[in-house]
Amino acid sequence: MALIEIENLSVTFRSKGHLVRAVQDVSLSVGDGESYGLVGESGSGKSTILRAICGLAPVTGGTIRIAGQPVPDPRGRDFSRQVQMVFQDPYASLHPRHTLDRVLSEPLAIHGVKGDADRAVMQALDDVGLPRAFRFRYPHQLSGGQRQRVAIARALMLKPRIVLLDEPTSALDASVQAEVLNLLSRLRAERGLTFLMVSHDLAVIDHMCDRVLVMQHGRAVEELNHADLAGAGMKTDYARTLFEASADRML
Ligand SMILES: Nc1ncnc2c1ncn2[C@@H]1O[C@H](COP(=O)(O)OP(=O)(O)OP(=O)(O)O)[C@@H](O)[C@H]1O
Ligand SMILES: [Mg+2]
Repeated sequence: MALIEIENLSVTFRSKGHLVRAVQDVSLSVGDGESYGLVGESGSGKSTILRAICGLAPVTGGTIRIAGQPVPDPRGRDFSRQVQMVFQDPYASLHPRHTLDRVLSEPLAIHGVKGDADRAVMQALDDVGLPRAFRFRYPHQLSGGQRQRVAIARALMLKPRIVLLDEPTSALDASVQAEVLNLLSRLRAERGLTFLMVSHDLAVIDHMCDRVLVMQHGRAVEELNHADLAGAGMKTDYARTLFEASADRML
């Protein structure tokens, strides 16, 4: 069964008196446990799709269903227990004056999760490969890769089924990027997570995703699977150009 179903989604922003059609008539469906990619040039509407799912962008047409249910407005607590998001810039997404202990325990407190919060925080640090001694550090005392591990740990505190990832490694060095991608793959396998992941880099998507939707100017251009990528089986020139730009980094 599809866990995420998006049908004919449109998002239009009103900006300084004119309309910006960020997403136009996009449909996609992500199976339970699948990892699905969104790729395309800057401004093609990738982040807006993730933001629309979370209720952070104005949906002007179409429907979004999670596990068969239309998403509620406002999204509310049940939604955040099912769906969590990881952003590109871990510095901007972590509060600078909150320790990791606070960052990681807050979701539990807000959602009234019972149990041993200290243990849950330590377990979360273990799960993302950070030393327990980091527990009372602040974000500025960590490297970029370590900060992104914290953001991932925070997203998983409520044990969501779905994680939306917006360029989760593009702010990181290449070697750190690979480590964080491997961490994400491992966590997905261990927990049966469903990923919807944005990247402008088809090599990253090829490594991480079962299928990918190529976006341009707010529209879906074409959907590709691994066989299409391996065999350069793109139907559109636009997807082929993206592929050629990343081909030297794909296996
Ligand atoms: N809050 C907003 N108000 C007005 N326009 C917006 C807003 N957010 C996004 N847009 C516009 O919507 C379009 C799609 O933006 P979006 O951020 O989804 O692109 P993207 O594919 O994620 O690009 P990038 O790869 O640069 O992150 C762009 O033209 C952008 O300027
Ligand atoms: Mg974006």
